[in-house]
Amino acid sequence: MDLFLLSFATTLAIIIINFLFKYFFAKPKEKIPLVPPGTFGWPIIGETIQFLVSLHYGLVHEFVQERTKKYNSNVFKTSLLGQKMAIFSGPAANKFIFTKGNKLFIGWRPNSVQKLFPSTSFVPIEHDTKRAQNVISYFLKSQNVERLISTMDSMSHIHLENHWKGNNNNNEVIVYDLVKLFTFSLSVRAFIGIDESDKILNLYEKFKIFTRGLLAVDINLPGTTFYKAMKAGNELRKEMKVIIEERRAELLKNPDMPKVDVLTQLISEQDEDGKYMTEVEMMDKVFGFIIGSYDTTATTITLTMKYLKQKPHFFTQIMEEQNEISRQMIPRKELCWDDIQKMRKTWSFVNEVLRNTPVVQGIFREAMEDFTYEDFHIPKGWKIYLSFGATQKNGEYFPNPTKFDPSRFEGNGEVIPYTSVPFGGGHRMCPGNEFARILILVFLHNVLKKFRWEAKVPSEKILYPFFLLAIPTDGYPVALSTV
Ligand code: HEM
Repeated sequence: MDLFLLSFATTLAIIIINFLFKYFFAKPKEKIPLVPPGTFGWPIIGETIQFLVSLHYGLVHEFVQERTKKYNSNVFKTSLLGQKMAIFSGPAANKFIFTKGNKLFIGWRPNSVQKLFPSTSFVPIEHDTKRAQNVISYFLKSQNVERLISTMDSMSHIHLENHWKGNNNNNEVIVYDLVKLFTFSLSVRAFIGIDESDKILNLYEKFKIFTRGLLAVDINLPGTTFYKAMKAGNELRKEMKVIIEERRAELLKNPDMPKVDVLTQLISEQDEDGKYMTEVEMMDKVFGFIIGSYDTTATTITLTMKYLKQKPHFFTQIMEEQNEISRQMIPRKELCWDDIQKMRKTWSFVNEVLRNTPVVQGIFREAMEDFTYEDFHIPKGWKIYLSFGATQKNGEYFPNPTKFDPSRFEGNGEVIPYTSVPFGGGHRMCPGNEFARILILVFLHNVLKKFRWEAKVPSEKILYPFFLLAIPTDGYPVALSTV
Protein backbone atom coordinates (compact mmCIF):
# COMPACT_ATOMS: atom_id res chain seq x y z
CA MET A 1 0.00 0.00 0.00
CA ASP A 2 2.83 2.42 0.89
CA LEU A 3 4.47 1.49 -2.34
CA PHE A 4 1.30 2.30 -4.21
CA LEU A 5 1.00 5.70 -2.47
CA LEU A 6 4.62 6.46 -3.26
CA SER A 7 4.28 5.68 -6.94
CA PHE A 8 1.00 7.65 -7.11
CA ALA A 9 2.65 10.69 -5.46
CA THR A 10 5.67 10.42 -7.81
CA THR A 11 3.46 10.28 -10.92
CA LEU A 12 1.44 13.26 -9.69
CA ALA A 13 4.63 15.21 -8.98
CA ILE A 14 5.97 14.47 -12.51
CA ILE A 15 2.70 15.65 -14.10
CA ILE A 16 2.71 18.87 -12.04
CA ILE A 17 6.41 19.62 -12.74
CA ASN A 18 5.87 18.91 -16.44
CA PHE A 19 2.87 21.24 -16.51
CA LEU A 20 4.70 24.01 -14.62
CA PHE A 21 7.74 23.67 -16.88
CA LYS A 22 5.65 23.91 -20.00
CA TYR A 23 3.69 26.83 -18.59
CA PHE A 24 6.64 28.94 -17.42
CA PHE A 25 9.60 27.93 -19.59
CA ALA A 26 8.30 26.60 -22.91
CA LYS A 27 8.79 28.81 -25.99
CA PRO A 28 5.59 30.81 -26.59
CA LYS A 29 3.67 29.39 -29.55
CA GLU A 30 3.77 31.52 -32.70
CA LYS A 31 0.50 33.40 -33.19
CA ILE A 32 -1.20 31.98 -36.27
CA PRO A 33 -2.76 34.86 -38.18
CA LEU A 34 -6.49 34.45 -38.74
CA VAL A 35 -8.13 34.13 -42.11
CA PRO A 36 -10.56 37.00 -42.79
CA PRO A 37 -13.94 36.96 -41.02
CA GLY A 38 -16.97 35.66 -42.92
CA THR A 39 -18.66 32.41 -43.72
CA PHE A 40 -18.15 29.70 -46.33
CA GLY A 41 -21.93 29.29 -46.36
CA TRP A 42 -23.51 26.06 -47.56
CA PRO A 43 -21.32 23.06 -48.43
CA ILE A 44 -20.04 23.27 -52.06
CA ILE A 45 -22.39 26.09 -53.17
CA GLY A 46 -21.24 28.42 -50.38
CA GLU A 47 -22.70 31.89 -51.02
CA THR A 48 -22.72 31.44 -54.81
CA ILE A 49 -26.45 31.94 -55.23
CA GLN A 50 -26.56 35.21 -53.26
CA PHE A 51 -23.47 36.44 -55.15
CA LEU A 52 -24.77 35.54 -58.62
CA VAL A 53 -28.17 37.07 -57.92
CA SER A 54 -26.50 40.31 -56.83
CA LEU A 55 -24.19 40.15 -59.88
CA HIS A 56 -27.20 39.79 -62.17
CA TYR A 57 -29.01 42.78 -60.63
CA GLY A 58 -25.89 44.96 -60.53
CA LEU A 59 -25.92 44.87 -56.73
CA VAL A 60 -22.57 43.23 -55.95
CA HIS A 61 -21.68 46.42 -54.10
CA GLU A 62 -24.56 45.73 -51.69
CA PHE A 63 -23.50 42.09 -51.23
CA VAL A 64 -20.02 43.34 -50.37
CA GLN A 65 -21.01 46.42 -48.34
CA GLU A 66 -23.42 44.39 -46.14
CA ARG A 67 -20.69 41.91 -45.23
CA THR A 68 -17.98 44.58 -44.88
CA LYS A 69 -20.23 46.30 -42.34
CA LYS A 70 -21.24 43.08 -40.57
CA TYR A 71 -17.63 41.87 -40.17
CA ASN A 72 -16.23 45.39 -39.77
CA SER A 73 -13.49 44.55 -42.26
CA ASN A 74 -12.56 45.52 -45.85
CA VAL A 75 -11.80 41.89 -46.56
CA PHE A 76 -14.02 38.91 -45.77
CA LYS A 77 -14.08 35.26 -46.69
CA THR A 78 -16.78 33.37 -48.54
CA SER A 79 -17.11 30.46 -50.94
CA LEU A 80 -18.18 31.06 -54.54
CA LEU A 81 -18.37 28.66 -57.49
CA GLY A 82 -16.90 25.93 -55.28
CA GLN A 83 -13.84 28.06 -54.46
CA LYS A 84 -12.63 29.54 -51.18
CA MET A 85 -12.62 33.24 -51.80
CA ALA A 86 -11.50 36.48 -50.14
CA ILE A 87 -13.51 39.52 -51.21
CA PHE A 88 -11.80 42.90 -51.02
CA SER A 89 -13.02 46.49 -51.37
CA GLY A 90 -11.81 50.03 -50.65
CA PRO A 91 -9.02 52.13 -52.17
CA ALA A 92 -6.30 50.48 -50.04
CA ALA A 93 -7.37 47.06 -51.29
CA ASN A 94 -7.49 48.31 -54.91
CA LYS A 95 -3.97 49.70 -54.52
CA PHE A 96 -2.70 46.54 -52.84
CA ILE A 97 -4.07 44.20 -55.50
CA PHE A 98 -3.07 46.39 -58.45
CA THR A 99 0.45 47.12 -57.23
CA LYS A 100 1.36 43.70 -55.76
CA GLY A 101 -0.15 42.34 -58.97
CA ASN A 102 2.30 40.05 -60.66
CA LYS A 103 4.09 38.91 -57.49
CA LEU A 104 1.20 37.70 -55.34
CA PHE A 105 -1.68 37.17 -57.72
CA ILE A 106 -2.42 35.61 -61.02
CA GLY A 107 -5.50 36.27 -63.13
CA TRP A 108 -8.07 33.60 -62.48
CA ARG A 109 -10.06 32.25 -65.39
CA PRO A 110 -13.17 30.17 -64.70
CA ASN A 111 -13.20 26.68 -66.31
CA SER A 112 -15.56 27.84 -69.06
CA VAL A 113 -13.06 30.53 -70.17
CA GLN A 114 -10.17 28.07 -70.10
CA LYS A 115 -12.06 25.67 -72.35
CA LEU A 116 -13.25 28.34 -74.77
CA PHE A 117 -9.70 29.73 -75.10
CA PRO A 118 -7.53 26.63 -75.63
CA SER A 119 -4.23 28.57 -75.58
CA THR A 120 -4.79 29.28 -71.85
CA SER A 121 -3.45 25.77 -71.20
CA PHE A 122 0.01 26.73 -72.50
CA VAL A 123 0.22 30.54 -72.40
CA PRO A 124 0.54 32.11 -68.91
CA ILE A 125 -2.08 34.80 -68.36
CA GLU A 126 0.53 37.45 -67.52
CA HIS A 127 2.06 36.95 -70.97
CA ASP A 128 -1.32 37.91 -72.45
CA THR A 129 -1.44 41.26 -70.71
CA LYS A 130 1.99 42.36 -71.87
CA ARG A 131 1.30 41.36 -75.46
CA ALA A 132 -2.08 43.10 -75.40
CA GLN A 133 -0.50 46.31 -74.11
CA ASN A 134 2.16 46.25 -76.86
CA VAL A 135 -0.36 45.63 -79.59
CA ILE A 136 -2.74 48.39 -78.49
CA SER A 137 0.05 50.89 -77.91
CA TYR A 138 0.77 50.60 -81.65
CA PHE A 139 -2.59 52.26 -82.42
CA LEU A 140 -1.90 55.09 -80.02
CA LYS A 141 1.53 56.12 -81.33
CA SER A 142 1.38 59.72 -82.46
CA GLN A 143 1.76 58.76 -86.15
CA ASN A 144 -1.12 56.23 -85.96
CA VAL A 145 -3.63 57.77 -83.56
CA GLU A 146 -4.93 60.33 -86.09
CA ARG A 147 -5.61 57.50 -88.56
CA LEU A 148 -7.47 55.58 -85.82
CA ILE A 149 -9.61 58.63 -84.96
CA SER A 150 -10.34 59.24 -88.62
CA THR A 151 -11.45 55.59 -89.10
CA MET A 152 -13.67 55.75 -86.00
CA ASP A 153 -15.15 59.07 -87.12
CA SER A 154 -15.95 58.01 -90.68
CA MET A 155 -17.28 54.62 -89.54
CA SER A 156 -19.54 56.33 -86.94
CA HIS A 157 -20.84 58.70 -89.60
CA ILE A 158 -21.60 55.89 -92.10
CA HIS A 159 -23.17 53.70 -89.39
CA LEU A 160 -25.47 56.50 -88.18
CA GLU A 161 -26.52 57.38 -91.74
CA ASN A 162 -27.23 53.76 -92.71
CA HIS A 163 -28.67 52.25 -89.54
CA TRP A 164 -30.11 55.17 -87.57
CA LYS A 165 -31.21 57.69 -90.20
CA GLY A 166 -32.00 54.97 -92.69
CA ASN A 167 -33.86 52.75 -90.19
CA ASN A 168 -37.04 51.06 -91.41
CA ASN A 169 -38.95 51.28 -88.17
CA ASN A 170 -40.59 54.70 -87.98
CA ASN A 171 -37.45 56.21 -86.51
CA GLU A 172 -37.49 53.81 -83.56
CA VAL A 173 -34.22 52.06 -82.87
CA ILE A 174 -32.83 49.77 -80.17
CA VAL A 175 -29.72 51.73 -79.20
CA TYR A 176 -27.73 48.89 -77.60
CA ASP A 177 -28.22 46.53 -80.57
CA LEU A 178 -27.13 49.12 -83.10
CA VAL A 179 -24.20 50.45 -81.07
CA LYS A 180 -22.99 46.90 -80.46
CA LEU A 181 -23.05 46.22 -84.20
CA PHE A 182 -21.05 49.42 -84.71
CA THR A 183 -18.40 48.72 -82.04
CA PHE A 184 -18.13 45.13 -83.26
CA SER A 185 -17.60 46.29 -86.88
CA LEU A 186 -14.99 48.75 -85.68
CA SER A 187 -13.18 46.14 -83.58
CA VAL A 188 -13.17 43.62 -86.44
CA ARG A 189 -11.74 46.29 -88.74
CA ALA A 190 -9.08 47.36 -86.21
CA PHE A 191 -8.11 43.89 -85.02
CA ILE A 192 -8.61 41.65 -88.09
CA GLY A 193 -8.65 44.19 -90.91
CA ILE A 194 -12.05 43.12 -92.30
CA ASP A 195 -14.61 45.65 -93.47
CA GLU A 196 -17.04 43.73 -95.73
CA SER A 197 -20.44 43.96 -94.04
CA ASP A 198 -21.60 40.39 -94.87
CA LYS A 199 -18.43 38.90 -93.35
CA ILE A 200 -18.81 41.15 -90.29
CA LEU A 201 -22.45 40.13 -89.77
CA ASN A 202 -21.57 36.45 -89.99
CA LEU A 203 -18.78 36.83 -87.39
CA TYR A 204 -21.05 38.97 -85.20
CA GLU A 205 -23.74 36.31 -84.82
CA LYS A 206 -21.13 33.70 -83.87
CA PHE A 207 -19.35 35.99 -81.41
CA LYS A 208 -22.62 36.72 -79.61
CA ILE A 209 -23.10 32.98 -78.94
CA PHE A 210 -19.42 32.48 -78.07
CA THR A 211 -19.48 35.34 -75.54
CA ARG A 212 -22.53 33.92 -73.72
CA GLY A 213 -20.51 30.83 -72.81
CA LEU A 214 -17.81 32.73 -70.93
CA LEU A 215 -19.42 32.51 -67.53
CA ALA A 216 -21.75 29.58 -68.25
CA VAL A 217 -21.43 26.29 -66.38
CA ASP A 218 -18.96 24.26 -68.46
CA ILE A 219 -21.26 21.33 -69.25
CA ASN A 220 -20.64 20.47 -72.88
CA LEU A 221 -23.92 18.72 -73.68
CA PRO A 222 -26.17 19.55 -76.65
CA GLY A 223 -28.59 22.33 -75.78
CA THR A 224 -26.49 23.99 -73.04
CA THR A 225 -25.23 27.56 -73.39
CA PHE A 226 -21.70 26.26 -73.04
CA TYR A 227 -22.13 23.65 -75.81
CA LYS A 228 -23.45 26.33 -78.19
CA ALA A 229 -20.51 28.60 -77.27
CA MET A 230 -17.95 25.82 -77.93
CA LYS A 231 -19.60 25.11 -81.29
CA ALA A 232 -19.57 28.81 -82.25
CA GLY A 233 -15.90 28.97 -81.14
CA ASN A 234 -14.97 26.06 -83.44
CA GLU A 235 -16.74 27.67 -86.38
CA LEU A 236 -15.02 31.00 -85.67
CA ARG A 237 -11.65 29.24 -85.59
CA LYS A 238 -12.28 27.67 -89.01
CA GLU A 239 -13.07 31.08 -90.46
CA MET A 240 -10.10 32.70 -88.75
CA LYS A 241 -7.83 30.01 -90.20
CA VAL A 242 -8.84 31.04 -93.74
CA ILE A 243 -8.30 34.73 -92.91
CA ILE A 244 -4.85 34.00 -91.39
CA GLU A 245 -3.80 31.99 -94.46
CA GLU A 246 -4.90 34.78 -96.80
CA ARG A 247 -3.04 37.36 -94.71
CA ARG A 248 0.13 35.25 -94.66
CA ALA A 249 -0.04 34.96 -98.46
CA GLU A 250 -0.42 38.76 -98.77
CA LEU A 251 2.54 39.29 -96.43
CA LEU A 252 4.68 36.89 -98.46
CA LYS A 253 3.90 38.85 -101.62
CA ASN A 254 4.37 42.20 -99.96
CA PRO A 255 6.48 41.96 -96.78
CA ASP A 256 6.44 45.75 -96.35
CA MET A 257 2.66 46.07 -96.27
CA PRO A 258 1.55 48.33 -93.38
CA LYS A 259 0.68 46.30 -90.28
CA VAL A 260 -2.33 48.38 -89.42
CA ASP A 261 -4.47 45.69 -87.81
CA VAL A 262 -3.71 43.46 -84.83
CA LEU A 263 -3.80 40.20 -86.78
CA THR A 264 -1.15 41.35 -89.28
CA GLN A 265 1.03 42.44 -86.35
CA LEU A 266 0.67 39.09 -84.61
CA ILE A 267 1.40 37.10 -87.80
CA SER A 268 4.62 39.00 -88.49
CA GLU A 269 5.90 39.25 -84.89
CA GLN A 270 8.61 36.95 -83.56
CA ASP A 271 9.33 36.46 -79.86
CA GLU A 272 12.81 36.79 -78.22
CA ASP A 273 13.70 33.29 -79.48
CA GLY A 274 12.71 34.16 -83.04
CA LYS A 275 9.56 32.00 -82.88
CA TYR A 276 6.30 32.99 -84.53
CA MET A 277 3.04 32.79 -82.58
CA THR A 278 0.99 29.61 -83.03
CA GLU A 279 -2.36 29.88 -84.79
CA VAL A 280 -4.29 28.78 -81.69
CA GLU A 281 -2.69 31.54 -79.64
CA MET A 282 -3.14 34.12 -82.36
CA MET A 283 -6.85 33.33 -82.65
CA ASP A 284 -7.36 33.46 -78.88
CA LYS A 285 -5.61 36.83 -78.72
CA VAL A 286 -7.77 38.30 -81.47
CA PHE A 287 -10.94 36.83 -79.93
CA GLY A 288 -9.91 38.25 -76.53
CA PHE A 289 -9.44 41.70 -78.05
CA ILE A 290 -12.77 41.66 -79.84
CA ILE A 291 -14.66 40.44 -76.78
CA GLY A 292 -12.83 42.86 -74.45
CA SER A 293 -13.60 45.72 -76.76
CA TYR A 294 -17.01 45.70 -78.46
CA ASP A 295 -19.44 44.88 -75.66
CA THR A 296 -17.80 47.08 -73.03
CA THR A 297 -17.75 50.14 -75.28
CA ALA A 298 -21.27 49.51 -76.64
CA THR A 299 -22.61 49.22 -73.10
CA THR A 300 -20.85 52.41 -72.01
CA ILE A 301 -22.20 54.38 -74.99
CA THR A 302 -25.75 53.07 -74.44
CA LEU A 303 -25.70 53.84 -70.72
CA THR A 304 -24.27 57.31 -71.40
CA MET A 305 -27.09 58.06 -73.86
CA LYS A 306 -29.63 56.84 -71.28
CA TYR A 307 -28.17 59.00 -68.49
CA LEU A 308 -27.87 61.99 -70.84
CA LYS A 309 -31.59 61.83 -71.53
CA GLN A 310 -32.36 61.60 -67.81
CA LYS A 311 -30.12 64.56 -66.90
CA PRO A 312 -31.16 67.53 -69.11
CA HIS A 313 -29.00 69.97 -67.17
CA PHE A 314 -25.82 68.05 -67.99
CA PHE A 315 -27.07 67.34 -71.50
CA THR A 316 -27.11 71.10 -72.17
CA GLN A 317 -23.57 71.51 -70.84
CA ILE A 318 -22.31 68.66 -72.99
CA MET A 319 -24.05 69.98 -76.09
CA GLU A 320 -22.31 73.32 -75.52
CA GLU A 321 -18.94 71.56 -75.38
CA GLN A 322 -19.64 69.46 -78.47
CA ASN A 323 -21.06 72.39 -80.47
CA GLU A 324 -17.99 74.46 -79.66
CA ILE A 325 -15.75 71.67 -80.92
CA SER A 326 -17.80 71.43 -84.15
CA ARG A 327 -17.52 75.22 -84.61
CA GLN A 328 -13.75 75.19 -84.12
CA MET A 329 -13.38 72.32 -86.60
CA ILE A 330 -14.68 74.32 -89.57
CA PRO A 331 -13.63 73.84 -92.40
CA ARG A 332 -12.08 70.53 -91.28
CA LYS A 333 -14.56 67.64 -91.58
CA GLU A 334 -12.98 64.90 -89.46
CA LEU A 335 -12.23 64.82 -85.74
CA CYS A 336 -8.60 64.85 -84.66
CA TRP A 337 -6.64 64.17 -81.45
CA ASP A 338 -6.89 67.79 -80.25
CA ASP A 339 -10.69 67.69 -80.51
CA ILE A 340 -10.81 64.55 -78.35
CA GLN A 341 -8.68 66.28 -75.70
CA LYS A 342 -11.22 69.11 -75.56
CA MET A 343 -14.13 66.77 -74.69
CA ARG A 344 -13.46 67.08 -70.95
CA LYS A 345 -17.04 67.56 -69.74
CA THR A 346 -18.25 64.70 -71.92
CA TRP A 347 -15.58 62.37 -70.51
CA SER A 348 -16.36 63.42 -66.91
CA PHE A 349 -19.98 62.52 -67.61
CA VAL A 350 -18.93 59.09 -68.94
CA ASN A 351 -16.78 58.58 -65.83
CA GLU A 352 -19.76 59.32 -63.59
CA VAL A 353 -21.84 56.86 -65.65
CA LEU A 354 -19.14 54.22 -65.06
CA ARG A 355 -19.02 55.02 -61.34
CA ASN A 356 -22.79 54.69 -60.98
CA THR A 357 -23.17 51.68 -63.23
CA PRO A 358 -19.80 49.95 -63.48
CA VAL A 359 -19.66 48.10 -66.78
CA VAL A 360 -17.36 45.58 -65.09
CA GLN A 361 -18.37 45.09 -61.43
CA GLY A 362 -15.07 43.62 -60.27
CA ILE A 363 -12.14 41.34 -61.10
CA PHE A 364 -11.00 37.87 -60.06
CA ARG A 365 -7.48 36.78 -59.12
CA GLU A 366 -5.83 33.75 -57.49
CA ALA A 367 -3.28 33.96 -54.64
CA MET A 368 0.01 32.47 -55.84
CA GLU A 369 1.42 32.37 -52.32
CA ASP A 370 0.23 32.92 -48.73
CA PHE A 371 -0.04 36.60 -47.92
CA THR A 372 -1.23 38.92 -45.18
CA TYR A 373 -3.60 41.82 -45.64
CA GLU A 374 -4.72 44.02 -42.74
CA ASP A 375 -3.45 41.32 -40.32
CA PHE A 376 -5.48 38.61 -42.04
CA HIS A 377 -3.89 35.56 -43.55
CA ILE A 378 -4.94 34.60 -47.11
CA PRO A 379 -3.68 31.13 -48.01
CA LYS A 380 -2.14 30.25 -51.37
CA GLY A 381 -4.74 28.99 -53.86
CA TRP A 382 -7.62 31.07 -52.48
CA LYS A 383 -9.43 33.09 -55.12
CA ILE A 384 -9.68 36.85 -54.78
CA TYR A 385 -12.56 39.07 -55.86
CA LEU A 386 -12.03 42.81 -55.91
CA SER A 387 -15.34 44.69 -55.97
CA PHE A 388 -15.13 48.00 -57.87
CA GLY A 389 -18.74 48.98 -57.13
CA ALA A 390 -18.43 48.67 -53.33
CA THR A 391 -15.76 51.39 -53.39
CA GLN A 392 -17.31 53.53 -56.11
CA LYS A 393 -20.61 53.66 -54.22
CA ASN A 394 -19.18 54.28 -50.78
CA GLY A 395 -20.11 57.63 -49.22
CA GLU A 396 -16.72 57.79 -47.50
CA TYR A 397 -15.02 58.32 -50.88
CA PHE A 398 -17.92 59.74 -52.95
CA PRO A 399 -20.14 61.96 -50.76
CA ASN A 400 -23.82 61.44 -51.46
CA PRO A 401 -22.92 58.38 -53.57
CA THR A 402 -26.33 57.84 -55.21
CA LYS A 403 -26.35 61.39 -56.61
CA PHE A 404 -25.33 61.55 -60.28
CA ASP A 405 -22.73 64.28 -60.35
CA PRO A 406 -20.09 64.39 -63.12
CA SER A 407 -18.41 67.38 -61.47
CA ARG A 408 -16.71 64.85 -59.14
CA PHE A 409 -14.41 64.12 -62.06
CA GLU A 410 -13.76 67.73 -63.00
CA GLY A 411 -11.19 70.11 -61.55
CA ASN A 412 -7.84 69.05 -60.22
CA GLY A 413 -7.98 65.48 -59.11
CA GLU A 414 -10.62 65.70 -56.40
CA VAL A 415 -11.30 61.99 -56.82
CA ILE A 416 -9.28 60.08 -54.22
CA PRO A 417 -6.70 57.83 -55.94
CA TYR A 418 -7.74 54.18 -56.38
CA THR A 419 -11.43 54.86 -55.70
CA SER A 420 -12.84 54.96 -59.24
CA VAL A 421 -11.26 52.19 -61.28
CA PRO A 422 -13.55 51.20 -64.17
CA PHE A 423 -10.54 49.92 -66.16
CA GLY A 424 -8.77 48.21 -63.25
CA GLY A 425 -5.23 49.37 -62.46
CA GLY A 426 -1.58 48.47 -62.14
CA HIS A 427 0.24 46.22 -64.57
CA ARG A 428 -2.96 44.35 -65.55
CA MET A 429 -5.02 47.46 -66.20
CA CYS A 430 -7.29 47.22 -69.26
CA PRO A 431 -4.93 47.70 -72.22
CA GLY A 432 -7.80 49.19 -74.23
CA ASN A 433 -8.68 52.08 -71.90
CA GLU A 434 -7.42 54.85 -74.18
CA PHE A 435 -8.79 53.12 -77.29
CA ALA A 436 -12.14 52.94 -75.47
CA ARG A 437 -12.03 56.62 -74.45
CA ILE A 438 -11.42 57.73 -78.03
CA LEU A 439 -14.06 55.40 -79.49
CA ILE A 440 -16.76 56.40 -76.98
CA LEU A 441 -16.09 60.14 -77.43
CA VAL A 442 -15.97 59.98 -81.23
CA PHE A 443 -19.27 58.09 -81.38
CA LEU A 444 -20.99 60.38 -78.87
CA HIS A 445 -19.84 63.45 -80.80
CA ASN A 446 -21.44 62.10 -83.98
CA VAL A 447 -24.67 60.96 -82.37
CA LEU A 448 -25.15 64.27 -80.54
CA LYS A 449 -24.48 66.21 -83.74
CA LYS A 450 -27.14 64.31 -85.69
CA PHE A 451 -29.91 63.18 -83.30
CA ARG A 452 -32.17 63.81 -80.34
CA TRP A 453 -34.06 60.90 -78.80
CA GLU A 454 -36.90 59.98 -76.44
CA ALA A 455 -36.80 56.78 -74.39
CA LYS A 456 -39.63 54.38 -75.29
CA VAL A 457 -39.44 52.62 -71.91
CA PRO A 458 -38.54 55.35 -69.40
CA SER A 459 -38.53 52.96 -66.42
CA GLU A 460 -36.27 50.42 -68.16
CA LYS A 461 -33.96 48.62 -65.70
CA ILE A 462 -30.26 47.92 -66.11
CA LEU A 463 -29.21 44.33 -65.45
CA TYR A 464 -26.10 42.19 -65.94
CA PRO A 465 -27.36 39.18 -67.96
CA PHE A 466 -24.96 36.22 -68.10
CA PHE A 467 -23.22 37.97 -65.16
CA LEU A 468 -21.07 39.93 -67.57
CA LEU A 469 -21.83 43.51 -68.49
CA ALA A 470 -24.47 46.11 -67.62
CA ILE A 471 -27.29 46.25 -70.21
CA PRO A 472 -30.67 48.04 -70.23
CA THR A 473 -33.23 45.17 -70.21
CA ASP A 474 -34.89 46.20 -73.49
CA GLY A 475 -31.66 47.44 -75.10
CA TYR A 476 -32.78 51.09 -74.66
CA PRO A 477 -35.40 51.54 -77.40
CA VAL A 478 -35.74 55.20 -78.45
CA ALA A 479 -37.68 57.36 -80.89
CA LEU A 480 -35.23 59.41 -82.93
CA SER A 481 -35.47 62.85 -84.42
CA THR A 482 -32.77 64.41 -86.57
CA VAL A 483 -31.15 67.71 -85.62
C1 HEM B 1 -15.52 51.09 -71.38
C2 HEM B 1 -14.79 50.15 -71.94
C3 HEM B 1 -13.94 49.17 -71.19
C4 HEM B 1 -13.93 48.83 -69.86
C5 HEM B 1 -14.81 49.40 -68.74
C6 HEM B 1 -12.91 47.83 -69.69
C7 HEM B 1 -12.57 47.26 -68.47
C8 HEM B 1 -11.65 46.24 -68.33
C9 HEM B 1 -11.29 45.64 -67.08
C10 HEM B 1 -11.84 46.03 -65.72
C11 HEM B 1 -10.38 44.67 -67.36
C12 HEM B 1 -9.75 43.71 -66.36
C13 HEM B 1 -8.46 44.30 -65.82
C14 HEM B 1 -7.87 43.38 -64.76
O1 HEM B 1 -8.08 42.17 -64.79
O2 HEM B 1 -7.21 43.94 -63.88
C15 HEM B 1 -10.15 44.66 -68.78
C16 HEM B 1 -9.30 43.78 -69.43
C17 HEM B 1 -9.09 43.78 -70.78
N1 HEM B 1 -9.56 44.70 -71.69
FE1 HEM B 1 -10.84 46.21 -71.28
N2 HEM B 1 -12.33 47.56 -70.90
C18 HEM B 1 -12.91 48.37 -71.85
C19 HEM B 1 -12.58 48.46 -73.19
C20 HEM B 1 -11.61 47.70 -73.82
C21 HEM B 1 -11.21 47.86 -75.21
C22 HEM B 1 -11.72 48.93 -76.16
C23 HEM B 1 -10.27 46.90 -75.46
C24 HEM B 1 -9.49 46.63 -76.73
C25 HEM B 1 -9.05 47.57 -77.50
C26 HEM B 1 -10.08 46.14 -74.24
C27 HEM B 1 -9.25 45.07 -74.11
C28 HEM B 1 -9.07 44.38 -72.94
C29 HEM B 1 -8.24 43.18 -72.84
C30 HEM B 1 -7.49 42.48 -74.00
C31 HEM B 1 -8.25 42.81 -71.49
C32 HEM B 1 -7.55 41.62 -70.86
C33 HEM B 1 -6.15 42.03 -70.47
C34 HEM B 1 -5.43 40.88 -69.77
O3 HEM B 1 -5.48 39.76 -70.24
O4 HEM B 1 -4.81 41.15 -68.75
N3 HEM B 1 -10.91 46.67 -73.27
N4 HEM B 1 -10.92 45.64 -69.35
